[in-house]
Amino acid sequence: MIFYFTGTGNTKWVAQQIRKAIGEELFYIPDLIRKGQYQFELKQNETIGFCFPTHGWQPPRIVREFITKLSFSKKNTYCWALTTCGDNMGETMTILNKDLAAIGLQATTQFAVVMPESYVCLPFMYTDTEEKEHAKINLARKMLPHIISVIRERTTGVEELVKGGTPRLYSYVIGAYFNARMVNDKKFTVDEDVCIKCGKCEKVCPVDNIQGTPPEWIHNGRCTSCLACYHYCPVHAINFGKITRKRDQYYFNKRGDQKS
Ligand SMILES: Cc1cc2nc3c(=O)[nH]c(=O)nc-3n(C[C@H](O)[C@H](O)[C@H](O)COP(=O)(O)O)c2cc1C
Ligand code: SF4
Ligand code: SF4
Repeated sequence: MIFYFTGTGNTKWVAQQIRKAIGEELFYIPDLIRKGQYQFELKQNETIGFCFPTHGWQPPRIVREFITKLSFSKKNTYCWALTTCGDNMGETMTILNKDLAAIGLQATTQFAVVMPESYVCLPFMYTDTEEKEHAKINLARKMLPHIISVIRERTTGVEELVKGGTPRLYSYVIGAYFNARMVNDKKFTVDEDVCIKCGKCEKVCPVDNIQGTPPEWIHNGRCTSCLACYHYCPVHAINFGKITRKRDQYYFNKRGDQKS
């Protein structure tokens, strides 16, 4: 079984490719949280996989909270994990494994797949150019058959990661600050004159933090900064502070030029 989280579709696409090849069930973590489903029966020879984007050089808050409640019918199951990131993922997998250890699991095989950038709320952070976006996705397509064969063969000890230059600094200092202080919905606004009241932002929010058209953020304390509301708005009516007014939007296959 594969548990996944996605904000802008990159990780969903990767998880779907793996699911198609290994034939295991795919679960969207926010749906499981909505249903309160945390206990799972494993079938004969089934693996446990986690796919999620890197958020501030750590697993996203929603994924970490989900894991604390998870339990499985069997121990000693082959477990693997994959994170997508725009650039590098630091010690994300070390943090994930610490969280997994608390529920008696370890991801013994780990991958990072670089995908188009989705974080745009800080200076010097932009969406990728169309060229870079395509280059990243093409490379990911080339990596997938290998990733799939490692998982199929239940190979352990594989660590194909993109940690960056000073991963501990990024994950435990900068990322810790980012996740503690900057993952929130405080700066979201909507331009009511621009909003066409399509309801997309409410629909895509994984934590049901948006209501109505034009949208209102409920401030339910669960925003995971995935930026789905910002990126999927068809008319760029949503902003996070002033900075995103000068930024583009991205989600997987926004241009409609990716085959599945
Ligand atoms: C809140 C947030 C934090 C991010 N932090 C990082 C990061 O630390 N390193 C990185 O390389 N990319 C980072 N990114 C980019 C995403 O990891 C990357 O674009 C990912 O593929 C998005 O996956 P998704 O489309 O499944 O949401 C961040 C994106 C968001 C929204
Ligand atoms: S409010 Fe926006 S950024 Fe926060 S979880 Fe919902 S969609 Fe993601
Ligand atoms: S997605 Fe954009 S246009 Fe649609 S309701 Fe939300 S803010 Fe308005």
